[in-house]
Amino acid sequence: MLLQEIKNIFHKELDVIYQKEEVNSFFYLLIEHHLGLQRFVLVMEPNLVVKKTEESPLFEALSKLKLDIPIQYIIGTTEFMDLEFIVNENVLIPRPETEELVRWILDDIKNHNSKLKILDVGTGSGCIPISLAKHLPNAEVFTIDVSSAAIAVAKQNAKSNKVSIAFIHDSILEIESLGQKFDIIVSNPPYVRELEKLAMSENVLEHEPELALFVSDDNPLVFYKKITEFASQNLTKNGKLYFEINQYLGKETSNLLEKDNFSAIELRQDMFGNDRMLKGIKN
Ligand SMILES: C[S@@+](CC[C@H](N)C(=O)[O-])C[C@H]1O[C@@H](n2cnc3c(N)ncnc32)[C@H](O)[C@@H]1O
Repeated sequence: MLLQEIKNIFHKELDVIYQKEEVNSFFYLLIEHHLGLQRFVLVMEPNLVVKKTEESPLFEALSKLKLDIPIQYIIGTTEFMDLEFIVNENVLIPRPETEELVRWILDDIKNHNSKLKILDVGTGSGCIPISLAKHLPNAEVFTIDVSSAAIAVAKQNAKSNKVSIAFIHDSILEIESLGQKFDIIVSNPPYVRELEKLAMSENVLEHEPELALFVSDDNPLVFYKKITEFASQNLTKNGKLYFEINQYLGKETSNLLEKDNFSAIELRQDMFGNDRMLKGIKN
């Protein structure tokens, strides 16, 4: 079949579900991933023929897109801070807002060769600890997640990105110390309230891990409370705590840091203008 004919089928089947531009970008990502073809190929070779055996992964992907499965899970990888990460349904797909948090941390560190000890809480794909380790070659980076399936994915990502990370399989809600102090603690913990589910798209709700996303309506800051307490006990003097936060709970979350005597508390907006990041320094 001609590649152009396959593209036409993608539009015929998917334009009712997604924006036309989105369908184009899915198609180009898929032909690059499965056939090694660049997006301009159709301009250069409008009559390019795709062999039957090469067609099938494209049509399999089309069926999955019809089921609202995120393209990152279909392809099995995504990019974060210009690095490639394996993703599957056991890990959250890294978000651009989280890149902004990582950049904030990196911008604050004057000497990227410093011997820092860093703890990330809620590993997921490993996007935060791995990109920090990549930019901070002398840092000792630890990360903790309650999900062994997430840790398995993050371990593969640490290996493919050639960084060394200490993985801890435990619940942050259950531990008081890891037997050492950290210069930086960072977390993007679960923060979506049940009541916010209504505003979320089907592909997130049905395919991304519940464990990574949701907290109960009556205790939405459970992770922030515990991690702030943990940080106040386990950060070095002048150590820094960074959070990605629920945009609707900026004030409440920064109050937690105030209550635990953090100083220089700063709330930042993401690229969409939402309160999304919080920082405090331990006195
Ligand atoms: C919002 S995701 C963030 C993943 C990743 N850091 C990112 O930014 O893409 C939250 C992560 O916290 C983990 N998590 C949930 N409950 C936890 C707990 N009690 N202790 C440690 N990690 C937990 C989830 O498994 C998930 O990987």
